[in-house]
Amino acid sequence: MSCGVTQDVNLTDKKVLIIGGASGIAARLKSDLVAAGADVVLVGRNSTPAVDLTDEDSIRRLAEELGEVDHIVSVSAAHANGPVTELDMDAVHTALDVKVVGPIMVAKHFAGRIRPGGSILLFSGVAGWRPSPGLVVMATGNVAVAALAEALAVELAPIRVNALSPGIIDSGSWDGPDKESFFAQVAAANPSRSIGHSSDVSAAVLTVLANPFINGTTLHVDGGARLV
Ligand SMILES: NC(=O)c1ccc[n+]([C@@H]2O[C@H](COP(=O)([O-])OP(=O)(O)OC[C@H]3O[C@@H](n4cnc5c(N)ncnc54)[C@H](OP(=O)(O)O)[C@@H]3O)[C@@H](O)[C@H]2O)c1
Repeated sequence: MSCGVTQDVNLTDKKVLIIGGASGIAARLKSDLVAAGADVVLVGRNSTPAVDLTDEDSIRRLAEELGEVDHIVSVSAAHANGPVTELDMDAVHTALDVKVVGPIMVAKHFAGRIRPGGSILLFSGVAGWRPSPGLVVMATGNVAVAALAEALAVELAPIRVNALSPGIIDSGSWDGPDKESFFAQVAAANPSRSIGHSSDVSAAVLTVLANPFINGTTLHVDGGARLV
């Protein structure tokens, strides 16, 4: 199902950088931004230009190559899930680099290149607000992202900086033999009695980018999952 509520958002001629690879939420976001009139650059580790959020040089090169932008949306994630007693330190560093440290470097290299009225939007996630076993790193990164958005909004003013926290989204990353039973279980517990879709998240992103008075906040697009 697609919620398709983005038709009123106008981002004509706004240059929007999406960091997040070509799949999942980032792919849907790209098509909705293009439909809203934006000039979209979607990058990941395998695109042209490419960026690896664990590598500051690649972030610096991306900034030099793109020049000025209106909005940046950092969707990327890397995962280090599992019991804390079994976590691999390198995987933990990578997950936190992609979610937290990389976006700090994005702010460092793009802050002087964001046009008036522009913004940065970072991706958090419901695991930060409803921790569950095996998601220690994800929870930590997601809450750090929310704090980072607040801190950057104050330091980089008047550039707006926000975070978006999705719940469980049928983005493709859950595809596998257990997906349907997992989604049914999640939907039954969710106050909205559903899982989310990439279109739900994308519509919320467009609203945050376009609204000049949304700043320093985390928008929860989780059907209320953080409350139960
Ligand atoms: N789907 C959900 O249910 C859910 C729930 C809560 C929060 N979220 C958050 O929502 C966002 C999008 O979720 P998703 O499921 O669409 O995404 P995803 O499949 O988890 O990953 C998004 C992209 O991150 C990119 N990436 C990984 N390592 C990178 C690196 N070192 N540098 C740059 N990019 C890197 C990958 O693109 P390349 O391989 O092309 O580089 C990948 O396609 C994530 O931040 C996720 O944590 C999702």
